[in-house]
Amino acid sequence: MYQLTFSLEEFLSEYWQKKPTVIKGGFQDFIDPISPDELAGLAMEEEVDSRYIAKQGNEWDVRHGPLTFDKVPEENWSFIVQAANHWHEGAAQLVSPFRQLPNWLFDDLMISYSTPGGGVGPHIDQYDVFIIQGSGKRRWRVGPKKDDYEEEFGHPALRQIKGFEAMIDETLEPGDILYVPPGFPHDGYAIETSMSFSVGFRSPKKQELLSSFADFIIANDVGDVHYHNPDLPARSNSGAILDAEYQDLQAMMRSLMDHPNMMKQWMGEHLSHSRHELDIISAEPPWQNSETYQFLEEGETMRRLGGLRAFYYPEQPHILYINGERYELPEECGHTATYLCDEEQVTREQLGKQLDHPAFIALLTQLVNLGYWYPVE
Ligand code: SIN
Ligand code: CO
Repeated sequence: MYQLTFSLEEFLSEYWQKKPTVIKGGFQDFIDPISPDELAGLAMEEEVDSRYIAKQGNEWDVRHGPLTFDKVPEENWSFIVQAANHWHEGAAQLVSPFRQLPNWLFDDLMISYSTPGGGVGPHIDQYDVFIIQGSGKRRWRVGPKKDDYEEEFGHPALRQIKGFEAMIDETLEPGDILYVPPGFPHDGYAIETSMSFSVGFRSPKKQELLSSFADFIIANDVGDVHYHNPDLPARSNSGAILDAEYQDLQAMMRSLMDHPNMMKQWMGEHLSHSRHELDIISAEPPWQNSETYQFLEEGETMRRLGGLRAFYYPEQPHILYINGERYELPEECGHTATYLCDEEQVTREQLGKQLDHPAFIALLTQLVNLGYWYPVE
């Protein structure tokens, strides 16, 4: 089990979305949760999102997965696997120590393998990222946040910048963590063959919230109503949009957001939608409710699929938003239902008496059949 050696609470108040920092020995006696061979295996898979990045002099070569590794140079290259927590249970465990952060902000665990000299060049991300150094050493430089960094056209897929003055310049060793908030330029290259693990958080953007809300409104046939003004007076200035008319139209739009329950439903569904492919394997043959009950009753464990997003609002704990869909349970199931979202595993000990609640067992069975929860072997 991975454990942070520092207080996340203190970290949040001092650094989160404020300034970058290096936490030496953020994990003690760190051991990679995955081997380079296993990681390469993932990068060779069709469904897994991966990239190969190599540098020769000033030339950058970028290839998107599925990757092959038969003709790779000795040095100066790396490959990256995105959302590795969706595909590798051991790697997913590296996310657990960060669970004091809201899961709705979490994006994915990215893993990179670099040969000496390998890296992606100086760039800026719009992510909060904890870069955990695994085996090997990597030198990282981080610069101050500024608006006017000049773009470098090394390769269109890399979105590099020309350079920056470093405020952090350190060599990371196994177990060290570099935290970089959005907007701070950074550049890391391996000094020796290196594995790094990036736990990434992504804050939603205004634009995408509004656009997703608009999609929801249309999909649910809400607000299919025209402007209506039976008291229209005659006017001399037919080209004018009168202030009262402007106000009415604006109020019409705003009124769409005045349905708290609808807004909550959309946001729950939106936030629980995964941006990365999930490794979904539905149960075959499907489970019966009685089998789910029996399984847990015997002390066995159900685990949530890596990367699956499951949320609730504390004031409506019986309504769950899982992988973009809304699930409603009888109100008395509320406090059990939240376990599904707060914990990665479900056991009899956690459920207590609620194990006897047929509606809860029926939901869990449905989720198991969808491949969202699975029995731990
Ligand atoms: C990398 O691990 O090479 C890239 C990480 C990053 O800076 O985004
Ligand atoms: Co970056």
